[in-house]
Order: sequence, then structure tokens, then C-alpha cells
Amino acid sequence: MSNLTVIDHPLIEHKLTLMREKTASTASFRRLLREISMLLAYELLRDLKMEEVDIETPVAPMKARKIQGKKLCFVSVLRAGDGLLQGLLDLVPVARVGHIGLYRDPKTLQPVSYYGKLPDNMDQRTTVVVDPMLATGGSAAAAVAEVKKAGARDVRFLALLGAPEGAEAFHAAHPDVPVFLGAMDERLNEKGYIIPGLGDAGDRLFGTK
Ligand code: PRP
Ligand code: URA
Repeated sequence: MSNLTVIDHPLIEHKLTLMREKTASTASFRRLLREISMLLAYELLRDLKMEEVDIETPVAPMKARKIQGKKLCFVSVLRAGDGLLQGLLDLVPVARVGHIGLYRDPKTLQPVSYYGKLPDNMDQRTTVVVDPMLATGGSAAAAVAEVKKAGARDVRFLALLGAPEGAEAFHAAHPDVPVFLGAMDERLNEKGYIIPGLGDAGDRLFGTK
């Protein structure tokens, strides 16, 4: 599928294996997700546009490059997106942050919206929407529709784990939005869970049931 990148790195795969283990504690799940998100973001931001600026080092003037344009925007899909957000902010502490509150109705598997707050000037920012899980793709597609409605044009979606069904549905809804994943799993089960997956990301991240 065009526009889909599975970020392949031994550290990502190793940490993901530790997270998948059902015996992983809440604390280690949270720490590993934060660590992986830095590795994912490093790759996802590789093609950011740069500009040349004049600076002075302690010994000489020089032309150096910095990231062009307004500050990046990271949008966390609540709740579990917050687990990825922390690592992204470790890497880019000046980024603006938006939140979109969605939960998946357990019967219909459709996303239900309950909150939204985004920074201004979305049309001038590279926006990264983050959620650890791309299962049916409904939540990701709804979140990206919200940021587009707020004016965002340069949008990327980042998840730790995806299912082929979700990637296809998301691509059908937003063919212009590149998707970055830490891994693509086999399929969804009858309850819409990613198989083999890691279970419910929000519950494992926050220690709820
Ligand atoms: C999980 C996950 C995604 C969604 C993915 O959230 O964090 O947002 O499910 O499923 P989908 O691709 O089928 O839409 P959940 O609805 O469990 O809410 P939570 O983060 O508040 O736990
Ligand atoms: N949401 C999750 O947290 N896990 C899944 O496997 C599917 C949706």
C-alpha cells in the first residue's frame, strides 16, 4: 500500500516484544511505549523541510540549518495516544499539542467523540496524529478528519501497531495522509482486537480494566 511505512529497527522490535508480553507491568509498558515513540518519531520526521539561517558560534559566524516554518503539532488521540505523545515531546519539546477524545463503542466498533482541542494556525504546521493502535481504522480516520477540519494540510499518522484491515480503511478515507507503524500484525479478531497485538493499549498504559 502506498503511503504506508513500517519502521523497521531492532530496538523497536525488541521493545515491542517486551510490551506484548501479558506479564509486562503497567510501569514497564508505559516506559517502553515512551522509548519506542522516540525511535518512531525520529524516522517519521526525517523529511522535515529545513531552512538556512545565519548564526554565530563562539568562534565564527556561519550559515546553519534549522527546521523551517511554525512549530510542529502533535495530536494525541485520547487516551492511549498520550503514551506515544510523551516520547515525541522528549524529542521535540517545543511542539504544540492537540488532543482529540475518542472511544470505540464496544458493540459497533465506531469511534465516539467526546473532546477536541487543537492549537491555532493548523494550516501552517506539520501535524502528527498519534495513537498506539490502528485496528479497524475508525478512530484514526475520525481524528485525522478533525485536524483537517481545523485546517491542517500536512498531516501524518503514527501508530505502534496496525492491522491490515485498519490500514486499508484509513487509506480509503485519507489517501493523502502517510501512515507510519512500528509493526503490522496479522488481522483483527471478532471483537476488533489486533491479533496477536498487545491487548487494550489504554488499559495497559493506565492500569485500568
Ligand atoms: C483504542 C486505541 C484507538 C482505538 C483503535 O482506543 O487507542 O484509539 O482503540 O481502534 P479502531 O482502529 O478500531 O478505531 P479505545 O477506544 O480503547 O479508547 P481508550 O484509548 O480511551 O482506551
Ligand atoms: N484498541 C486497542 O487498544 N487494542 C486493540 O487491539 C484494538 C483496539
